[in-house]
Amino acid sequence: MTHVIVLGNEKGGSGKSTAAMHVVVALLKSGASVAAIDLDMRQRSLSRYLENRRAFAEMTGSELVFPENPRVDPSSLDSREQAWREETERLQTAFSNLAHCDFVVIDCPGADTHLSRLAHAHADTIVTPLNDSFVDFDLLARIDPETGDVLGPSLYSEMVWQARKRRAMSGVKGGIDWIVMRNRLSATRANNKRHMGEKLDDLSARIGFRLARGFGDRVIYRELFPKGLTLLDLGGKNAPIRLSTMSHVTARLEIRSLIATLNLSNPAAERDGAGRSAPAYRPDASGKSGVAAA
Ligand SMILES: Nc1ncnc2c1ncn2[C@@H]1O[C@H](COP(=O)(O)OP(=O)(O)O)[C@@H](O)[C@H]1O
Ligand SMILES: [Mg+2]
Repeated sequence: MTHVIVLGNEKGGSGKSTAAMHVVVALLKSGASVAAIDLDMRQRSLSRYLENRRAFAEMTGSELVFPENPRVDPSSLDSREQAWREETERLQTAFSNLAHCDFVVIDCPGADTHLSRLAHAHADTIVTPLNDSFVDFDLLARIDPETGDVLGPSLYSEMVWQARKRRAMSGVKGGIDWIVMRNRLSATRANNKRHMGEKLDDLSARIGFRLARGFGDRVIYRELFPKGLTLLDLGGKNAPIRLSTMSHVTARLEIRSLIATLNLSNPAAERDGAGRSAPAYRPDASGKSGVAAA
């Protein structure tokens, strides 16, 4: 069974593509077979990330892991109905062709598109990175400006709710596990950080998501993109670049924490004979992927 992980948020610049790339590489390093689909064909950040990775591997002779990366383009048909039908067929075809994969990771655009809605409805896991700001929070829920109370769900939460409803109606077993992760957490704005944390805790129970620890605001993410590398490629004997600062080490722990929070099964361990009770995927602290007792 292929497990579908969707990176979504109706907002650009929240860290979807960055997180998608790190999730893809983490899963590949655990021995899983992984496909990555970029549905943001306007920005193409995930596709560009992978192109940069291939170029870096060729240029330096580094041995890097790669996912399958099929294209699923938006339709250019004029009629909305026909375009939607074509896009539905394109995504279905991609899923059929990827049935052998353990994981399909889908990076969505920061906008409400038909393909993005479809992807959400196919998700087993949704990961929503959120900048640590109430402008981003507003896409999840409305807040009373006077009292600060959460008034109710807003745009993006409604979309996840629709996806959950669609999935339940289609008879697919199990619900959608929705994880919200705070991104670009600042080391200094402690009050804002605490305030956001409280509101997100309150909201998580009301609209049904789990909170991940999140990523700090670190220049390294911007530096790795042109080389197509992730924090998980750094360090180790044959690594193309070494982890050089405490901030990099902490950043990598944050990535591992996100992967652990996703609570995914480890198909590679199951294939290796761990059997049906294979523990959840947990990368170990040394940089290699590994499996710890569940
Ligand atoms: N934790 C972080 N710290 C610093 N910069 C980040 C972090 N996460 C993402 N970025 C940078 O922010 C920009 C937008 O991230 P991206 O992943 O492309 O967002 P999205 O896919 O949601 O539009 C990129 O330049 C990326 O390198
Ligand atoms: Mg993106």
